[in-house]
Amino acid sequence: MSDTARCTLLLALLFVAGAVPVVPANAKVYRPVDSILLNCGSTSDGLDADGRNWVSDTNNQHWLVDGGRSSIMTVADRLETLLPSTIPYMTACVFPVDTAYNFTVDPNHRHWLRFLFYPSSYNGIPPENFRFSVSTSTGLILLRNFSVWFTAKALTQAYLIEEFSLPRAPAGFFTVTFTPTPPMAMSNSNDDDDVTYAYVNGIEVSSMPDIFDDPVTMVGFSDQKVDIATTQTMYRFNVGGGYIPPSKDSGLARYWYNDTPYVLGVMPGVTYDAGPRFHIKYPSDVAEYAAPALVYTGSRSMGPDARVNQNNNLTWTMEVDANFTYVVRLHFCELLLDKPNQRAFDIFVNNKTAQSDADVIKMTSERGVPVYKDFAVHMADEPGDEVLWIALHPSVALRPKFYDAILSGLEVFKLNDSAGNLAAPDPLPSKMLAQAELGAGEEERSRNSKHQANKKKAVIAAVGIVAAICVVVYHHHNKRDRELSGSESHSSGWLPLYHSYTMRRQGMSGHLGGNQLTGSMCRHFSIAEMRAATKNFSEELVIGVGGFGKVYRGVVDGDTKVAIKRSNPSSEQGALEFHTEIEMLSKLRHRHLVALIGSCEEDKEMILVYDYMEHGTLREHLYDKGGKTPPLSWRSRLEICIGAARGLHYLHTGARYTIIC
Ligand SMILES: *[C@@H]1O[C@H](CO)[C@@H](O)[C@H](O)[C@H]1NC(C)=O
Ligand SMILES: *[C@@H]1O[C@H](CO)[C@@H](O)[C@H](O)[C@H]1NC(C)=O
Ligand SMILES: *[C@@H]1O[C@H](CO)[C@@H](O)[C@H](O)[C@H]1NC(C)=O
Ligand SMILES: *[C@@H]1O[C@H](CO)[C@@H](O)[C@H](O)[C@H]1NC(C)=O
Ligand SMILES: *[C@@H]1O[C@H](CO)[C@@H](O)[C@H](O)[C@H]1NC(C)=O
Ligand SMILES: *[C@@H]1O[C@H](CO)[C@@H](O)[C@H](O)[C@H]1NC(C)=O
Ligand SMILES: *[C@@H]1O[C@H](CO)[C@@H](O)[C@H](O)[C@H]1NC(C)=O
Repeated sequence: MSDTARCTLLLALLFVAGAVPVVPANAKVYRPVDSILLNCGSTSDGLDADGRNWVSDTNNQHWLVDGGRSSIMTVADRLETLLPSTIPYMTACVFPVDTAYNFTVDPNHRHWLRFLFYPSSYNGIPPENFRFSVSTSTGLILLRNFSVWFTAKALTQAYLIEEFSLPRAPAGFFTVTFTPTPPMAMSNSNDDDDVTYAYVNGIEVSSMPDIFDDPVTMVGFSDQKVDIATTQTMYRFNVGGGYIPPSKDSGLARYWYNDTPYVLGVMPGVTYDAGPRFHIKYPSDVAEYAAPALVYTGSRSMGPDARVNQNNNLTWTMEVDANFTYVVRLHFCELLLDKPNQRAFDIFVNNKTAQSDADVIKMTSERGVPVYKDFAVHMADEPGDEVLWIALHPSVALRPKFYDAILSGLEVFKLNDSAGNLAAPDPLPSKMLAQAELGAGEEERSRNSKHQANKKKAVIAAVGIVAAICVVVYHHHNKRDRELSGSESHSSGWLPLYHSYTMRRQGMSGHLGGNQLTGSMCRHFSIAEMRAATKNFSEELVIGVGGFGKVYRGVVDGDTKVAIKRSNPSSEQGALEFHTEIEMLSKLRHRHLVALIGSCEEDKEMILVYDYMEHGTLREHLYDKGGKTPPLSWRSRLEICIGAARGLHYLHTGARYTIIC
């Protein structure tokens, strides 16, 4: 074999080696020493939709001490198909009196302690009557006067996962006590309505590596550092990427969510995905368990337009509890560039400079090498302080090659206060939700004609949305299942799976007009683009007609199929409704809802551009007599119904702003 041939062969081998999927068998993935998953209130063990085994806590009575005898094993009164998994959410242990679990643990490790809660009534007890505190024998107060029902409602979530990281327990065990909130001394008690209970659906205790070993510098006080003892996880994002379930984490069983709802709308940036074959090289000081490769292979950056980037920040805003110190962990990995000073940026935490001139390549020296940075910040109790701001801005002073910033992952941890407390009052519902509820109350009383008219409009809107959902579900059933990175359709059906399509497209065109107009992440199209996309609104491309006007099939950016809804100038939909629709739809991202891609408002035209659903409408499939489409199986029909219900449920409860239709 000649030298050149050998060399080529070697290169080929190297190439193959480089192409193996991430998470090889020998990965430094963490394996917990202790791992307890309790399916509370259940008499049997079972797998959740993520494939993890939850064991019955009735078979393990030794975990239950003190008030254990009076606890009630029960099933949620509301049978719910919209949960990610019935195990462990559908069963609960209800505690009328103080009750403790005793967990025997390895004294050499930190531990995750996760509580899973599903808001419902249990055993006939209304959901508002569950108010309780949770504390540990190591002197920590994790939750106080906590209501699952009100918290879930305020956060518009179908269930809650409260995650804490506890320091080592030298005694080799710790207990976790659930205490129902005592009724107020003043209230004339003995009233059954005032009796409160505690409950829990699932408890997870597992050992974890010390991911918090170094003290963290306070932003703005370079001489002040905080040690991390106990934390509560407030946010954990796979920035620019999709949801990562516990089974796909690098051994720490964390939940990583998409960050889109928390990106400030003026500048949502663009996402980039290097793909599953991109090799992440973990350096010696960043363990694989810091974050899975899936987090580092995707990122969000500002976009290609230097001038736009210079005048903007890429910003995330997150609500937190006042009067606590927080640690913000930013994960970076350069996926495209490989030289220093190509991309350098400043990092702001709460409007203060946390780090200037951050250059990922300078920190890692190489492309594909991950790194993370921690910053600590105290949230005082002044108006506006309940919102944590993280902002990135190109480092103009350094004159980098690209005026851009990049982020791959973001975690926010709350630290215990000096009294070992992590509890805060329940969050308040958003103003919009509060108003909607107020409105719903008024509606029952008022019966004037204006109201009736509004109601009618709402019903029409609802029907439109249901139709849209049905179409998407079918599309999803056929095609998207395989595309969604490994997550099964039923395992995360509830969680809004934001797809990054919109942002990628926007990045290519670089238009920002639409965003400034609506404060949303929706692209602005010109009327010329719309005419080009639809062959000047050719009748042959019409796929639907409604009171508002016509819907056309079209193509933008060369090959992207879209559905284009053009308002009939004589339609009743005015400019206000048009903007409201953009505002609302662009905030909704759910796998069972059609995504709004952009809009066009020019020459008195009002046009909305949606993701195009290839397979036609549900109606066509149900009533097709010509045999153009194969009949739907009963299984598909059932899946469509469940998907439609999920989409509606998301609209009602899951979106950041609840939509009542
Ligand atoms: C919890 O279990 C440990 C043994 O693992 C035992 O030493 C300890 O006394 C128990 N604590 C309580 C409060 O029962
Ligand atoms: C618990 O919270 C509720 C609702 O905020 C409040 O009305 C009640 O007074 C609180 N109870 C205690 C003991 O703090
Ligand atoms: C924060 O602390 C201040 C001073 O101790 C107190 O007045 C305020 O009520 C606290 N705020 C919250 C939300 O607990
Ligand atoms: C940061 O600045 C924005 C405006 O630029 C302001 O709305 C926000 O309240 C500030 N946040 C903090 C924590 O100071
Ligand atoms: C970016 O954020 C920082 C800190 O909040 C602020 O000082 C700066 O003015 C912002 N820049 C732009 C262009 O919005
Ligand atoms: C958190 O608790 C530890 C003891 O577990 C304590 O040493 C530390 O000071 C507390 N943190 C803060 C910020 O008070
Ligand atoms: C598109 O159609 C309009 C009227 O429907 C017409 O005025 C215009 O000239 C057409 N444009 C092109 C490029 O064909």
